[in-house]
Amino acid sequence: EKGEYRHFMEKEIHEQPDSVQHTLSEYLDLVTGKAKTNAIDFAAVERIQIVACGTAFYAGQIGRYAFERLAGLPCDVEIASEFRYRSPAVSPKTLAVAVSQSGETADTLASLTWCKAQGLKTAAVVNVHSSSMAREAEVLWPTHAGPEIGVASTKAFTAQVAALLALAVAAGVARGRIDAAQEAELVKALFESPRLIAEALRMDASIRSVVQDLAKADDILFLGRGAMFPLAMEGALKLKEISYIHAEGYAAGELKHGPIALIDEETPTIALAPLDDVFEKTASNLQEVAARGGPVIMIAPENAPDPHGAGIRRIHAPDCHPLIAPLVYAVPMQLLAYYTAVQKGTDVDQPRNLAKSVTVE
Ligand code: M6R
Repeated sequence: EKGEYRHFMEKEIHEQPDSVQHTLSEYLDLVTGKAKTNAIDFAAVERIQIVACGTAFYAGQIGRYAFERLAGLPCDVEIASEFRYRSPAVSPKTLAVAVSQSGETADTLASLTWCKAQGLKTAAVVNVHSSSMAREAEVLWPTHAGPEIGVASTKAFTAQVAALLALAVAAGVARGRIDAAQEAELVKALFESPRLIAEALRMDASIRSVVQDLAKADDILFLGRGAMFPLAMEGALKLKEISYIHAEGYAAGELKHGPIALIDEETPTIALAPLDDVFEKTASNLQEVAARGGPVIMIAPENAPDPHGAGIRRIHAPDCHPLIAPLVYAVPMQLLAYYTAVQKGTDVDQPRNLAKSVTVE
């Protein structure tokens, strides 16, 4: 039941400190500061192929940044409806990973079955542990988000990201890329995410102060670099799904290759700008938007420098380790979509035309 909340989506957003904590504990040991051993020998894997749809696809893309950076493991991520029909060339030591909340999405399941038939090792990151994908894959990598009722995925997404980040640490250790001290630091950083997600939930007042403007817009741009790029696409998807406002997520560096032509006074840009090694680059992209009269909302920690430019509004996010930024910054993405939809009076939990589980193609 919804309890004190107006919508299941709101309730599920607030459950994330627990669901992320629970999911991380599946893969990491808080006491020893070590990644747990799991059924896959990452040292024997040469490539990872992630297949997924929708929000799970964006979680997969965030996972990819971590598998490559922390484990030096080449990782491809593809939308399952494309993967299954394009006769992909896969090398034999590839680990195929399906990511899915329901474990029933038709295209993702078909891609998993195809990979298995090619003789690949298979794993499934799924939230419904009795699902078709859980049974089909050799290895089940569970997320512990609990039942998700809202059609727009929130806590299942952060649980997928948490699982993939934790598995990337495990892969880095197994492949000799991460030593014991680094492992302890990364495990500690990951276990800080539930507290920082709880802190991010307190951003709701500052987010509510911008939704009136957002609700009036016809188009909204989301920008980010690194793992914030797939999160920008997830933020745009969430907004589209429940507020019916057209939104696009872009890599901030792509701005001048096209989307900057859309910038005008009526088109807000939302930027995800944690203090990481590409912060300055993102900040300079925002100056370019502001210089063209586009309203900018920059989500960044309070101690991040101010980019010069009229029209740049700031929303403060908790400062955090770059590894967990996708978990922490997912919260303002969800809150923005949620409050904008509430402002517009749409059916948040049952958006038009959408089904919770897409079991037909
Ligand atoms: O159950 P799955 O994770 O496989 O579902 C995949 C997508 O259908 C799902 O993420 C969809 O994009 C959601 N409506 C996102 O909010």
